[in-house]
Amino acid sequence: MLKKYIDKKEIEDAVKRLAAEIENDYRDKEIYFVCLLKGAFMFTADLIRHINNPTRIDFIRASSYGNSTVSCGEVMITKDLEEDIRDRDVIIIEDIIDSGITLKCIKDMLLKRNPRSLKICTLLDKRGRRQVEIEADYVGKEIDDFFIVGYGLDCAEKYRNLADIYIIEGEP
Ligand code: IMP
Ligand code: MG
Repeated sequence: MLKKYIDKKEIEDAVKRLAAEIENDYRDKEIYFVCLLKGAFMFTADLIRHINNPTRIDFIRASSYGNSTVSCGEVMITKDLEEDIRDRDVIIIEDIIDSGITLKCIKDMLLKRNPRSLKICTLLDKRGRRQVEIEADYVGKEIDDFFIVGYGLDCAEKYRNLADIYIIEGEP
């Protein structure tokens, strides 16, 4: 059963606030956004629509299984960026940070490519669950340890299309 946890209006307000913070920090600089697939696709699409800087957008797909081309600790990169990020101002966009393992791995990988700057923007942050040291520069909302779905987030690939965010109770 799904129980509504974060309403689409609250998501929209958080997205607009984050976009304003980013615009304010980057002034008129070009931003190279890196969307972490699949979960961050909806958040990314909404966020960048509220940002008036010159932008580029690229995608990384990381998973802990499947066919990989590049390995990054326990995390497999199954789709990498298509452009060189050297000397670019990069912002990684994530849906939710849990243990932090995925993001730490991707951050370290991208830092080796010498961007001018590298920041992290996450819609949601389960800070209490962290296993590695990593902080986002922009956080939409801190949440407790619930398993949530909707607005890009899935449970076994279901529910990504929902406009609101829900807690799964009992059997999905
Ligand atoms: P981490 O490496 O443990 O931080 O895992 C982060 C990734 O796990 C996120 O990008 C999500 O794809 C997924 N994830 C973590 N918590 C949830 C959740 O509550 N619902 C859906 N996916 C989640
Ligand atoms: Mg994800």
